[in-house]
Formats: sequence, structure tokens, C-alpha cells
Amino acid sequence: MPRTHPDSETLRSALALASRAPSVHNTQPWRWRLGRETVHLYADESRRLPHTDPDGRDLLLSCGAALHHLRVAARAEGWESVIHRLPNPAAPEHLAVVEFRPTTCTPEHVELARAIGKRSTDRRRFSSWEVPPAYIEAIVAAGVATGVLVRDVEAEPARTQLLRAFEQAAWQHARDVSYGAELAQWSGRHAAPQGVPARNAVSTEADPTVRPFSNPGLPQAVVRDIDAADRMILLSTSSDDRLSQLRAGEATSAVLLTATSLGLATCPLTEPMELADTRERIRAHVLDDSAHPQMIVRIGWAVPSADPVPPTPRRPLDEVVHPLDRSGS
Ligand SMILES: Cc1cc2nc3c(=O)[nH]c(=O)nc-3n(C[C@H](O)[C@H](O)[C@H](O)COP(=O)(O)O)c2cc1C
Repeated sequence: MPRTHPDSETLRSALALASRAPSVHNTQPWRWRLGRETVHLYADESRRLPHTDPDGRDLLLSCGAALHHLRVAARAEGWESVIHRLPNPAAPEHLAVVEFRPTTCTPEHVELARAIGKRSTDRRRFSSWEVPPAYIEAIVAAGVATGVLVRDVEAEPARTQLLRAFEQAAWQHARDVSYGAELAQWSGRHAAPQGVPARNAVSTEADPTVRPFSNPGLPQAVVRDIDAADRMILLSTSSDDRLSQLRAGEATSAVLLTATSLGLATCPLTEPMELADTRERIRAHVLDDSAHPQMIVRIGWAVPSADPVPPTPRRPLDEVVHPLDRSGS
């Protein structure tokens, strides 16, 4: 009989790739439970950042990114995933049930899965080389295919409005002692299995899009031409409920992996979406009140002389993967 579910080795390697997903401050706020023929994704509320992420938006975005990473990893092993999102209104932390169907996989699917291992958040300046329009189209299309709105914020005055929102959010956060303490707690370490390591953070140098993580140890890229050609890809949704935020996380992963597979450097950014004022500012002045902003992905070419960004740590898989209890399938 043909198999109807990946074997445990295949599933473990797909979950290992899913755990490479980006997450706010590298909190990795997910838990996986394995049923006989299902994989369940749960939000780990104990890893929500109360002062950075009071609404839990970043947490859901992070879990959505992990869900999409799982989907991409399974697809490259010949398994298509069928996802039931937020299956139980009585258990809001239960984010998704994933079932699998055997399918054929193409070289494009393998290439996208390979991008998981190549991707890392690059907070340095990018080069002044233009990102080809066809690449932007492919990146936007990959995000749109997951059911969210995706826009390259290139034209003025939208781009300046977006940068103003970053400035305002950085200003507000700089005056929030609890936010600062949380940022220090989750960054600047050298050997922790979570958080943003010192070696992955750059100093802000008055750039409001760069979060001021502790002990920044990654040298800034040397850019001769000051006309940076980085692009700001804005992901938004027509509603602002938990389902929309989860889907925006899936779209974030799709955008990041597509850009990485094209050889581009990427950096997810959410600071202005974490504060009501700046989120509203983007909604009104960049999106013309037509959608709710969820995520910005900065994209560009890494400077050729810059070293690759070191990979960030992850918690051991056994800490985040457990069997489903007997009541589950
Ligand atoms: C929802 C979300 C929000 C994030 N916000 C920021 C941000 O504002 N600034 C930043 O430098 N990185 C941000 N990141 C990137 C994370 O810090 C990064 O994914 C994490 O440290 C793991 O590193 P990696 O992406 O290199 O694997 C965000 C990632 C996610 C998923």
C-alpha cells in the first residue's frame, strides 16, 4: 500500500528545517505535536515578548513562518501539506493541523527548501546594485500566493512615510524601559540556544530600521555608493485577526525563501507594527487605509566583500517536538 504519511525520519528532518524559520528576537515560540497521521502546531505563549509584542502579532507571524517552512521542507521530500488553521476555537494556542498527501516534487521545490539552510537575517547595509524588476515580481507573487497583500514600497511619498514610522517607533521604544530590558534579555549573548546573538547584530548608526540589539558584533558592510538600492516589501492583510497574522507569517517565509533562492539578502522588520500609533500611520499613509500592515522585509544584494552572516542557534528539536496525547489522531 502506498504510504499516506511521511515516515518518522522524513518528518524529523522536515521539522528540523521548520525550526530554522525566523522568529521575533529568535524566541522560537512554537511547539509541534505528532499524531499518527497529523502534525499539530501550537503557539508557545510562555515565549511571547510582553513589552515588544503586547498583541502577540510577532508570535503568530513567527509561527506562521515555521508552518510555511514545514510545508516547503515536506514538499521537497514529495509530500504536499493540507493545512487546517486555528482548528479549535476553544484552544487558541492550537494554530494548525497539518496532513500530508504524496506528490511529485520539482527542482523548484528542492531549490526553495535549500533556501531554508541558506537564509539568515542580514541587518547590514546592502549594496547599491538594483534588484531586477523580475525578481521583485517573483518575490511579490510568492507572498500573494499564500493569500496576503504584498507591495514593494518604492514610490514616494510612501517610502518616506514608512521610514518616518520606523523613526517614530525607534523613538518611542527608546523611552520604554521595559522594552529595553526585554531587548537586552533576548540579545547580545554568545552561546545561548535562543535570542539574537552578539555576532548577528550590527550597531544602529542612526539607521532607524535597525533594532538596537545588545553587544552588536557583526561588522557593518562597507558601502561606497550611498544610494542604497534596498527594497521594502510590505505584507498586509484585509483583516487584523489571528488567522490573518498567521497567514502573514506564512507569506513572510514565502517572500524570504524566494528572495534567498534568487541570491538576495533579506531582513524581516516589525518594530513599527508593534506600536498602535506607528501601525496606524503605515495603514493610513502607506496603505491608504486599505489594509493592515503586518511585516516589512528589506531585500537587497549583500556587499560582495562582506562575510556571510553566521547562522543563529536553535533549541534542540526534542524540546519543541512531542507526541500528541492519546485523545488526538
Ligand atoms: C515576526 C518577526 C519579527 C522580526 N523583527 C525583526 C526586527 O524588527 N529587526 C530585526 O533586525 N530582525 C527582526 N526579525 C528577525 C529575527 O530577529 C531573526 O529571525 C532571528 O533572530 C533568527 O535569526 P535568523 O533569521 O538569521 O535565522 C524578525 C523576525 C520575525 C519572524
